[in-house]
Amino acid sequence: MNKYYIGLMSGTSLDALDIVIAERSPAGFKQVAQDAVPLPASMRQNILRICEDKTVDLQTLGEVDHQFALLCADAINSLLATSKLLATQICAIGSHGQTVFHSPLGAYPFTQQIGDANLIAAKTGIPCVSDFRRMDMAYGGQGAPLVPAFHQALFADSQAPRIILNIGGIANISILDAQKSSLGYDTGPGNILMDAWINRCKNKTFDKDALFALQGHVLPDLLAKLSADPYFTLAAPKSTGREKFNVAWLIDIIAKNIYRDEDVQRTLCELTVLSISEEILKEGAHADIFVCGGGALNPLLMQRLSEILNTQKIQTTHALGVDPMYVEGMAFAWLAEQRMLEKHIELHCVTGARQDAILGCVYLA
Ligand SMILES: Nc1ncnc2c1ncn2[C@@H]1O[C@H](COP(=O)(O)OP(=O)(O)OP(=O)(O)O)[C@@H](O)[C@H]1O
Ligand SMILES: [Mg+2]
Repeated sequence: MNKYYIGLMSGTSLDALDIVIAERSPAGFKQVAQDAVPLPASMRQNILRICEDKTVDLQTLGEVDHQFALLCADAINSLLATSKLLATQICAIGSHGQTVFHSPLGAYPFTQQIGDANLIAAKTGIPCVSDFRRMDMAYGGQGAPLVPAFHQALFADSQAPRIILNIGGIANISILDAQKSSLGYDTGPGNILMDAWINRCKNKTFDKDALFALQGHVLPDLLAKLSADPYFTLAAPKSTGREKFNVAWLIDIIAKNIYRDEDVQRTLCELTVLSISEEILKEGAHADIFVCGGGALNPLLMQRLSEILNTQKIQTTHALGVDPMYVEGMAFAWLAEQRMLEKHIELHCVTGARQDAILGCVYLA
């Protein structure tokens, strides 16, 4: 009998909670319903304060943990209603939660996501798997990125190497070779700096169709300073987040220089393109590239990527049968399935963990 799983993902961009219902059948693992629920502005503000100000009162943290879980449960119950599926038909939910802090290096590495899975299970009546990252960290891994294992399972091709490029808030690549273990890491900023800058200058959440960046020119001196950040030359395994690449990081580098806002916007797009393409040229200069995440909708970003990687074929994951906006949601539906089947997730080459582990805790309804 076919089985259904739900995946919930809300990434570093804080734009929306993505929800996917996936069906496991003899034909494979397919998306059957999906939605993107925008994060309410007040919740977004609170999460930003927790992530970036690095001071948080426990009352706010606890309340946002609860509120985010309610958003998840409501999204699930609504999507079940519109897709005419019953909670009893769903084997499990895979809920990533909203990351509020990711600190994989240092003496005591940790990663923290919110969105109480007890509440999600109780409000939906469906077992909920969450806390996917910390067992990998317990084995010495970075706990991120997790999606390369899913990319390998769904998209690896025995005939030719492939690269999956996810441009979310942070950008990450998976280098897929059916003969080898999955490989992948965060290349650095995806949309996060472009979003932060236009938010600061124009009070917009993102630069729709790169219209603002297209009014500007690349600033070579600023680009050189931004590109000099040690993260870009760090060897993998590596993962990063909003704690590092945020508006304070940018302002610190801009320092006392006076630039036109649109030139900074254009430069941030170029930084994103260069940091991604340098890693692709290093790791898979002959692989076909499949893009997913919101960055796939940024025409300037995509045009510059194809100009720099001009010998490689660049398409979105549509070409592989998966909606590029829901690859991450699908990944968490798949991770929920793998957890329920008690499968080890092959990630040691990605995260640097000593061994592959079963990822996620199950909260039974
Ligand atoms: N039309 C568009 N033009 C330019 N940028 C866009 C457009 N549509 C979406 N984006 C960008 O995509 C971002 C959202 O992407 P996405 O949802 O993949 O990120 P995320 O939630 O951080 O995901 P991840 O799970 O990978 O961290 C937006 O914040 C915006 O910057
Ligand atoms: Mg998103």
